[in-house]
Amino acid sequence: MKILVIGGAGYVGSHAVRHLVGAGHDVLVYDNFCYGHRAAVRDVPVVEGDILDQPLLERTLRDHGSEAVMHFAAFTYVGESVSDPARYYRNNIVGTLSILDAMRATGVDRIVFSSTCATYGEPGVVPITESEPQTPINPYGFTKLAIERALDDYAHAYGIRFAALRYFNASGADEAGDIGEDHDPETHLVPIALQVALGQRDHLSIFGNDYPTPDGTCIRDYIHVTDLAEAHLAALLHLEREPVLKLNLGTGVGVSVKEIVEACRRVTGHELPVVEAARRAGDPPELVADPSAAERILGWRARYLDIEATIASAWHWHSGHPDGFAKD
Ligand code: UFG
Repeated sequence: MKILVIGGAGYVGSHAVRHLVGAGHDVLVYDNFCYGHRAAVRDVPVVEGDILDQPLLERTLRDHGSEAVMHFAAFTYVGESVSDPARYYRNNIVGTLSILDAMRATGVDRIVFSSTCATYGEPGVVPITESEPQTPINPYGFTKLAIERALDDYAHAYGIRFAALRYFNASGADEAGDIGEDHDPETHLVPIALQVALGQRDHLSIFGNDYPTPDGTCIRDYIHVTDLAEAHLAALLHLEREPVLKLNLGTGVGVSVKEIVEACRRVTGHELPVVEAARRAGDPPELVADPSAAERILGWRARYLDIEATIASAWHWHSGHPDGFAKD
């Protein structure tokens, strides 16, 4: 299939691109390189452009003959979405509407959209099923929910077929070790812990030790980025059979911050100094997916269920590329 991967040079996008190319699809990446890295998509054709540039999107879809879109081009810093919501509303909502309208103008009717567990806010029940009420507690989560709603309406009115994939905590790196997570600034737990192991930071701050969890630290569901990539292709292929898909993508396994620290110590063999710090605003105590719908509908389930294997793949990338893509 001819697939335009928007935001294909970013962390999850570049892993999806690798999987799609490996499966024999004709992939074109569209990225503005605001956060993406050229070295992450070295062997794939790229158009440099912004999602707000609808005429360029239309030209690109036409010239490529795209049959489907995968859309990863979002701003994802929860804290920044609170301090500068305008950036998030413009890029994540207006930008995605521009993609959808470019698809309508060119007759492309399939899209896989990166949604998030942040659309659930503070869930009443864990593990979280897709029917849990979506009540986001920050602008980032709201922008993703707004697009889920727009997709429903575009599906109904214009025949767009879509999959909204609600990721939990994307982690790990391709086993080849040549692509991985490289955010600037980095705010995520696993890469920060590995930067401490590399001596690039003095310590890791544990945000909150008084949550209502067994060890007092937050619990998350760390889903390997290669598992995410496989789910994207399975979801796209499933759109042949069903026009609307909304699925959680997680492992179903909850891991606490302290358990991540211990696993990072075991994987890296480094000391990893930690400092117990105050809670970070907006962190729910526990976010774990019920992934059974994705298994039932797509036949997909996460293959990385052991957090040490996920961290080992991330460590392969970080230890081999301590400066990320900077030196590539
Ligand atoms: N944490 C620390 N110290 C750090 C960094 C993180 O203790 O230096 C903790 C956080 O407080 C949280 C856990 O580690 O409890 C995971 O934090 P991350 O920042 O790695 O991930 P989040 O769970 O905050 O964020 C992820 C996605 C977001 C998404 C969010 C939904 O990266 O895009 O889940 O809750 F919005």
